[in-house]
Amino acid sequence: MQVAGRAALGGMLNTTESAFRLLTGWMISTLIPEIPHPILAFKGEQGTGKTTAARCVVQVIDPSPAPLRTAPRDVKQWVVVASASWAVCLDNVNAISGWLSETLCRAVTGDGNVDRALYTDDDVTVLAFRRVVMMTSIDAGHLDGDLAERLLLIELQPIAEGARRTDAELTAAYAAAQPIIFASLLDLTARVLKRLPDVRPESMPRMADFACVLQAVDDVNDWDTLAAYSAAADTIAADVLEGDLFGKAVAVAVRKQPEGKWTGTAAQLLDLITPEKPPKNWPKDATRAGGRLTRLAPLLRQAGVAYDDSQREPRGNRSRLYSFAVIEEGERQEDGRQLAPAAPAAPETAIDLYERAGASAGASDEAPPVAPAAERFAGAAGASAGAGHDIAPALAAGREQGKREPAGAAGAIAPHISGPDVSSCDEKQPCTFCGAPLDQALTDAGFTDHGEDPAA
Ligand SMILES: Nc1ncnc2c1ncn2[C@@H]1O[C@H](COP(=O)(O)OP(=O)(O)OP(=O)(O)O)[C@@H](O)[C@H]1O
Ligand SMILES: [Mg+2]
Repeated sequence: MQVAGRAALGGMLNTTESAFRLLTGWMISTLIPEIPHPILAFKGEQGTGKTTAARCVVQVIDPSPAPLRTAPRDVKQWVVVASASWAVCLDNVNAISGWLSETLCRAVTGDGNVDRALYTDDDVTVLAFRRVVMMTSIDAGHLDGDLAERLLLIELQPIAEGARRTDAELTAAYAAAQPIIFASLLDLTARVLKRLPDVRPESMPRMADFACVLQAVDDVNDWDTLAAYSAAADTIAADVLEGDLFGKAVAVAVRKQPEGKWTGTAAQLLDLITPEKPPKNWPKDATRAGGRLTRLAPLLRQAGVAYDDSQREPRGNRSRLYSFAVIEEGERQEDGRQLAPAAPAAPETAIDLYERAGASAGASDEAPPVAPAAERFAGAAGASAGAGHDIAPALAAGREQGKREPAGAAGAIAPHISGPDVSSCDEKQPCTFCGAPLDQALTDAGFTDHGEDPAA
């Protein structure tokens, strides 16, 4: 944002300069309707000005006589609320139920709702929309992984008693500054849009289009918002994994393995990590454990644990094999996925927090300190090819970010767990029966040929 507008808006938001720049990047992205936008969440202690900040931001990007809403009761109410405005801000959201989490995710990437038309038997109405969503008072520890991946957290600082201003003062100051704030935002957006076609970030997080916008903002202003976004996303992922005892136990168990690797079926994993008295929400059987692992995979990767579930047992039940491997710090740096120097310090991983708190009898003291910051970009380099420059109106419907993820995920696993990657065949053990290279997952599980039962 140009200097005058930035100063005017910055004066109303008591946040750090780094967070304010990130917020500026987000506001610019909201003026590009074709892309998914992360859910903006103002977080902070009571009275840190979350509601005030949210109101100011909504009034800039989508002025409304009722800028703030309460959390909807059900999907129907959400559809009515969300379809009526471009920016939807839910104030004081303290718990997000499963359906709301899913609904918000769908609103970010493009939602469609089909319902029976009133006063008809068989007519339907279809409401399809993508929205800009904001929240205040979020506790990231209670979020689903899907929602956490789509979140942009802006932390607000406590306001000193002497610095507090009245609502009336702030409202008057905002009304006076609104034109210059909006003009500055448009000026900066114009420069960003000009730069955007040439932008190609080295790595792409889940919200890849948003990352491209941040990269353009950084290029234009010489800022580091993309690095700050990545670090903030890691903090959220660590918080979410911290709240998931099953996920934490998996990560701790993998770190305790002699080579930092483990491969086996979901049933074997449950045998390995299930405590005597399983906590609430612990998967009851192998099927549920497998589903849970799939959902946790992105968070595990961000916490420094590679994950692969593409292999199956060669005989018997042909159960799916789950492979995990600790990602070492050096391997991350080689990937060129390091944060820019100005990024905030990498937060503690969930595993570190878990072990420090002594939350599990099996918690290990010897877990190496692994900075989680860059891992969310694991393997995304390959997926990013061609993703950065065609963001603008031509953004095709099929270019959903989720479709890029498998490529990134595969890349993340490749250095540690062999899948169908033939480039690493030389290092694989030969099958004692046919001589062809054995998949690493089979070797790790104790097989020496393609069909032998290691227990036999
Ligand atoms: N940037 C600011 N500078 C000075 N005072 C502010 C600022 N933002 C808000 N205030 C004042 O602080 C008080 C609390 O603001 P607000 O209601 O937005 O906080 P909140 O974080 O939403 O509170 P709660 O946690 O109770 O929902 C209000 O009186 C408001 O006028
Ligand atoms: Mg409030």
